[in-house]
Amino acid sequence: MKKLIFICFILCLSCKVSTGNKDTFQKNSNNSSNNLNIEHPVDSILKLMTLEEKIGQMNQYNGFWDATGPVPKSNEKAALKYEHLKKGLVGSMLNVKGAKQVRALQKIAVEETRLGIPLIFGFDVIHGYKTIGPIPLAESASWDLEAIKKAAQNAAEEAAASGINWTFAPMVDISRDARWGRVMEGAGEDPYLGAKIGVARVQGFQGEDLASPKSIAACAKHFAAYGFAESGRDYNTADIGTSTLYNVVFPPFKAVNEAGVRTFMNSFNILNDLPATGNEFLQREVLKNEWGFDGFIVSDWGSIAEMIPHGYAEDIKHAAELAANAGSDMDMESSAYVLELANLVKEGKVDEKLIDDAAKRILRVKFELGLFDNPYLYCNEEHEKDVVGKRAFHDDALDIAKKSIVLLKNENNILPLKKENQKIALIGALANDKTSPLGSWRIAGDDGTAVSVLEGLQQYKGNTLTYAKGADVVSPGSNITFVNELKINETDTTGFSEAINVAKAADVVVMVLGEHGYQTGEGRSRTKIDLPGVQQELLEAVYKVNKNIVLVLTNGRPLAITWADDNIPAIVEAWHLGVQSGNAIAQVLYGDYNPSGKLPMTFPRNVGQIPIYYNYKNTGRPHGKNSDVVFWSHYSDESNKPLYPFGHGLSYTTFSYKNLKVEALPNSKFKIMVDVTNSGTVIGKEVVQLYIQDKFASLARPVRELKGFVMVELEPKKTKTIELMLTEKELGFYSQHGVFIVEPGEFNVYVGGNSNATLSTTLILE
Ligand code: BGC
Repeated sequence: MKKLIFICFILCLSCKVSTGNKDTFQKNSNNSSNNLNIEHPVDSILKLMTLEEKIGQMNQYNGFWDATGPVPKSNEKAALKYEHLKKGLVGSMLNVKGAKQVRALQKIAVEETRLGIPLIFGFDVIHGYKTIGPIPLAESASWDLEAIKKAAQNAAEEAAASGINWTFAPMVDISRDARWGRVMEGAGEDPYLGAKIGVARVQGFQGEDLASPKSIAACAKHFAAYGFAESGRDYNTADIGTSTLYNVVFPPFKAVNEAGVRTFMNSFNILNDLPATGNEFLQREVLKNEWGFDGFIVSDWGSIAEMIPHGYAEDIKHAAELAANAGSDMDMESSAYVLELANLVKEGKVDEKLIDDAAKRILRVKFELGLFDNPYLYCNEEHEKDVVGKRAFHDDALDIAKKSIVLLKNENNILPLKKENQKIALIGALANDKTSPLGSWRIAGDDGTAVSVLEGLQQYKGNTLTYAKGADVVSPGSNITFVNELKINETDTTGFSEAINVAKAADVVVMVLGEHGYQTGEGRSRTKIDLPGVQQELLEAVYKVNKNIVLVLTNGRPLAITWADDNIPAIVEAWHLGVQSGNAIAQVLYGDYNPSGKLPMTFPRNVGQIPIYYNYKNTGRPHGKNSDVVFWSHYSDESNKPLYPFGHGLSYTTFSYKNLKVEALPNSKFKIMVDVTNSGTVIGKEVVQLYIQDKFASLARPVRELKGFVMVELEPKKTKTIELMLTEKELGFYSQHGVFIVEPGEFNVYVGGNSNATLSTTLILE
């Protein structure tokens, strides 16, 4: 019988193997394996597998060779990986891209291994594949869940056309620390917004049908608390209490699990002294048992082996034992499982049932992706040519790029710029950069593919535009790559005089300053989060000769730009917006798009205030009674207040809020109503935000928590009544034992355009 299933399975695979043409490709796209009963075939395959083959499914290798070229022999490590691949001891590969490459490797797995089980190909499709969109932090500033979902959908379609089955996104790590370079990859500081955005991204990547050639599996990462790295230093220790874990860190992970995310990635950090990768509580107790997650968990890159320097595993064999027992299903690049797990099972240190469970989880996702129906589903070169870089992707990238821009300040309505008879000076190396706007984590994106701000502004012909660099951000000769440390220009000011002359002659100066695209992302923590290098000096030098400055910031984290806020009349947060960057910025500066973005992360006044976030706890001494006396929670040399609060963002129009009402409904539900008016002169969009404060509870609760938002577009002078709902889900919280509780009592309710909203009322939960 076993043999029969085996033969049927192989026959089934081999007939798919020969089909690579478009007809079959399209036919298969409608053939959803989601509708099949997956458990039965998965169990049947599992029964055919040797222990080593099951462990092989748990092994993931980075792309190690050009599969269209000669077989690796001279490089010992690559030769061993190749042997493993041929023996069916590899279940997945990452960083292999392109239909041709993927097909060549898949062919080995399908045709040369004993069981022909297809590989799953993972890739960091973080904000677009080839058509790079705004970095995740930027797109989160749009608060536009449909646009965010669409961006993920496009990224999935493009990546899938290039052979990719699985993205290592979304990163749903909450972080309150702008020093941490990876804030660019997340949705900011708030668990409620983070959960909504995480779900939108998962839905976009995975679509309705995972087996469609337009969708790929998503991965919620990094489980857990990676965003709480002490002092914002990447990979550093996270030490947080249970309440923060359950109420702040977990919610986005829980939400994406409920939305059906198929994979999770664990994290590099230790959490309360236990490495996340070897953490049974996180992976088995919470995720798999309590939350019922039935997909698989991949380790982070080498994080199994990293348990040795953490001082938790004695050697690689011990690390494999700890990770497998803790529930880490797939080993990314540690080679710990493939080399050690079989012996550990034989020695009784790891139960074979755990191996079965892990292999089954991985096979299940491969089935859902349709890889058993057609392992080459994602490997059609003709289709790849049609899809990758499609015009429609660029149109959507422009749409979300505009929506991601946040107008931080606009004094005297210096913006929007007049379209005619103006002399505009454009200053800053970043204004003429076609690579930096792509940001970090854009591995398949090509250098030089972004529209620069200069190019964007040049399209408006009614004005005279003069460009001067002013100063380099990155020193010439620096190795500008994803992996190398950048050398920031801290000294060269030779371009200042040209910039000053150009500024002197201008009506308006547009200065594009900020971080290079590779100043954020993994391994890019900073202790100073002001304008890097000599840019602050340049800004002040230009300000001396012309105060009519529009500062356009391009960066991947909140910056401390207090001087600019004190002196510069208009400030636009433009992040790293991807390929359509310059077009989006130009359209906002000229008012062809009225900015609607809102900050997903607090901007500090000073790096010393970090961690700074809007949903803090009050302390027992929140206010000074007498300004001379020091015994209250404050700094002697800086305000407690942020520079720009969470949720802040202006428009070229204004909005006013009135008539906030609460209606109590049955079953502890509350309808919140408020009238929002466009009180300005142009049409505009506003993100109406709802915050609550549980005034008294069995645990100290934050001074405010976002619990709802809605975007409204209003013509001038028009008013709309907005309705938002609060239920027990929003009003409750997790106890210190991780139990969700809803406590009766009084809540403050605030509604407005940012987290400092002043319009308030109360509700009583009985
Ligand atoms: C990162 C992950 C990423 C993985 C694969 C790691 O260094 O932490 O987020 O998905 O590499 O590239």
